[in-house]
Amino acid sequence: MGWTYVLWCLCLSASECWQLASTETVMHGKVQSPQYPQPYLPNLQKEWDLCVPEGYQIELSLTHLDIKPSMGCYQDSLTVVHDQKVLGKFCGQENPGKQSIFSQDNRLTLIFQTSDSTAELQQHIGFSATYKAIDIDECSEQDPGDGSGPLCSQICINTPGSYYCSCHNGYKLHLDQHTCLSSCGGCIFDKREGRLSSPGYPDPSPPFLSCKYIISVEPRFIVTLNFTDNFHIESVDTQQGPRCLHHWLQVTIPDREPMKLCGAKSPGLIATNSSTVRLDYHTDNEGLSLGWRFDYSTNEVKCPFPGNVAKGRVTPVLTEYFFRYNIFVTCKPGHRLMMNGRELKTFSAMCQSDGQWHLPLPECQIIDCGEPKPLLNGGVTFLTGFQNQYRSVVQYHCNEPFYSLPKGVDVFTCKADGKWRSNHTDVSNTTPTCIPVCGQPTKLISTYQRTVGSSEAVNTIPWHVLLSIDGHRAGGTVIADRWIMTAAHALTYNGNVVSNESLRIYIGLTDVTNLQSSPVLAASIHIHPEYNNPNFLDFNNDIALIKLQDPITFNSSIMPICLPAEGATYVTDMIGLVSGFGLAGEQLISANKLKYVHLLVVEQEMCRSAVEKLKKATDNYNFPSLTNNTFCAGVPEGGKDSCHGDSGSPLAVRDEGRFWAAGIVSWGADCGAPGTYGVYTKVSNYLDWINKTMKEN
Ligand SMILES: *[C@@H]1O[C@H](CO)[C@@H](O)[C@H](O)[C@H]1NC(C)=O
Ligand SMILES: *[C@@H]1O[C@H](CO)[C@@H](O)[C@H](O)[C@H]1NC(C)=O
Ligand SMILES: *[C@@H]1O[C@H](CO)[C@@H](O)[C@H](O)[C@H]1NC(C)=O
Ligand SMILES: *[C@@H]1O[C@H](CO)[C@@H](O)[C@H](O)[C@H]1NC(C)=O
Ligand SMILES: *[C@@H]1O[C@H](CO)[C@@H](O)[C@H](O)[C@H]1NC(C)=O
Ligand SMILES: *[C@@H]1O[C@H](CO)[C@@H](O)[C@H](O)[C@H]1NC(C)=O
Ligand SMILES: *[C@@H]1O[C@H](CO)[C@@H](O)[C@H](O)[C@H]1NC(C)=O
Repeated sequence: MGWTYVLWCLCLSASECWQLASTETVMHGKVQSPQYPQPYLPNLQKEWDLCVPEGYQIELSLTHLDIKPSMGCYQDSLTVVHDQKVLGKFCGQENPGKQSIFSQDNRLTLIFQTSDSTAELQQHIGFSATYKAIDIDECSEQDPGDGSGPLCSQICINTPGSYYCSCHNGYKLHLDQHTCLSSCGGCIFDKREGRLSSPGYPDPSPPFLSCKYIISVEPRFIVTLNFTDNFHIESVDTQQGPRCLHHWLQVTIPDREPMKLCGAKSPGLIATNSSTVRLDYHTDNEGLSLGWRFDYSTNEVKCPFPGNVAKGRVTPVLTEYFFRYNIFVTCKPGHRLMMNGRELKTFSAMCQSDGQWHLPLPECQIIDCGEPKPLLNGGVTFLTGFQNQYRSVVQYHCNEPFYSLPKGVDVFTCKADGKWRSNHTDVSNTTPTCIPVCGQPTKLISTYQRTVGSSEAVNTIPWHVLLSIDGHRAGGTVIADRWIMTAAHALTYNGNVVSNESLRIYIGLTDVTNLQSSPVLAASIHIHPEYNNPNFLDFNNDIALIKLQDPITFNSSIMPICLPAEGATYVTDMIGLVSGFGLAGEQLISANKLKYVHLLVVEQEMCRSAVEKLKKATDNYNFPSLTNNTFCAGVPEGGKDSCHGDSGSPLAVRDEGRFWAAGIVSWGADCGAPGTYGVYTKVSNYLDWINKTMKEN
């Protein structure tokens, strides 16, 4: 007995279905007690595991039963077991043939057991049974009520040995082969208005929905959703308020966070401000949503009224600004377009599909011309306006009386282009220059003396310059802020031009005893190119210019003299003012103070005969010749005259209140004797050369 029991245990544990393992699955069969129809033996324990294909159940029919009866079949019995549950225990001779026993699935176990208490030989022959496989109707099974739901969410179709699920129209079977999903949504709504609702609305929404709807109209329209009050989407109340955990309607607008709608409160109107809206309706089998419906409508995209720009104009002015309309901003004259601290050439903004202007309005900022440029030897004063802004007016002035501005170029206005401009067209955008006043000393020598005699000359001859070349003195004339005019012979020595380092230039000086005042420095020396005087007999073109390293600032003690006007005439008896530190009368030592003398221009012929006379008197001593580039001046009676120390000094002539440089002291003979004259370079013959030299250097 122990042996068979062990076998039974092995069978249960080792094989789910022994018939499956050993034979083909069978659809029917027969089971009989051992030796049937001979009487069975005592001490039997026999077991059959019946097995049919899956999806079937077993119908067992006892065709014949003859087992020794005992109370409760306690001695001999046939037991039908399924899944360790006893379906029936049989003994005796009752014929249960009319009643079949059904297994719940495709397996059934029969156990035939006999006892050894049967001492006497008995005639019971056991049992005979048939079984067959019967298709299970899975579809008729009850919902187990464990939350897993019915076998099929919609339609169940039984098949021999199996079943399958199917769905109503408009639904699709989910991959789990069990649930039906609504094949809702999926299409694009492109009409300008329409209506959408949850599947089945106003019925509750089926579970497992995953519906997608897209509303997409032309970009110049925006979509507005208008939900009805009957709105219900299952939500879960949390501490943070209702949350769309299982069901939701998600509204997605491009470039914005999607929003999930749920709960029992209708969202009402939703202005999407977009021409495209996507909706995703999702349900699962948790809870129930009663559904929703909305009408959508569209409006043409409109941008808000753009507003105004102070000191500017926004165009065009319309009652409504639709999608893709452009606006432009221009500023009033004197203002410029500014945005984020940067100047714009032009500005336009377009109405975007979201109903917003693509740029905010710029500002119109008043033009600021900045500080007017300072004026050398002058200044600037504000006439009108504010902080150098547009239309401010300034006036330049020069340091009078030493500098002057040409008429009409002194007033500058801050113009719309951000520049200070004069309304004098020729100088419109250049700052004016202060022009030195020439030939007008602040102090005049009181009278024109016809008598000869040197007098002191403080501030009356401010153009006079003292040159010191290796200890030799010479004179010169200031003709411009960087230029000194003198005689060529004063700057040459043995045919060579002196070096500019050996040249000391003292300006504004009337007393040489204060030679401590520092000289100004020469930048370059320019001898007239045709000056050629190796033997001191040819003083033709005796003129030179010195360029200074730094410009002179003029004041009452230093001022330039004017150059001769073009075509200036030298008439006989014209009065010339000769100045110099060498005017010492009979004494041949240099004077320490600047002196002057008034001389008369002498007729060229009279001068020539005077030179001839002197030649004879001195035994044909060689004198330089007079040329058309020289003229003579002096007094017939003789006396104080220009002498050697004054080479290069000016002979100034006053005309219409201004002194001009008529001559340069060149040479003379028998200084101060009666009937002799000084010879001067005729400056008016050199205007071109002076002009050219000053321009080119
Ligand atoms: C929204 O729809 C309701 C009817 O459902 C209607 O009365 C209402 O005027 C609509 N609102 C708008 C702004 O269209
Ligand atoms: C649409 O624009 C209006 C007005 O500018 C605004 O109040 C509303 O919040 C916008 N809608 C969305 C969804 O951004
Ligand atoms: C320059 O223009 C201003 C105003 O524009 C005027 O008052 C002034 O007279 C003008 N000056 C000249 C020199 O034209
Ligand atoms: C001196 O003069 C010469 C020519 O005259 C010029 O080239 C040179 O630069 C000058 N030197 C200085 C130090 O100014
Ligand atoms: C003129 O200017 C010179 C040098 O620039 C200076 O030494 C002199 O003192 C000034 N004279 C007057 C009267 O200002
Ligand atoms: C000087 O001028 C006179 C008259 O103006 C003229 O006849 C003569 O040829 C000139 N001499 C020279 C060297 O140019
Ligand atoms: C000197 O040059 C200026 C231009 O630089 C000109 O206007 C002027 O007429 C010239 N003067 C003479 C005398 O050549």
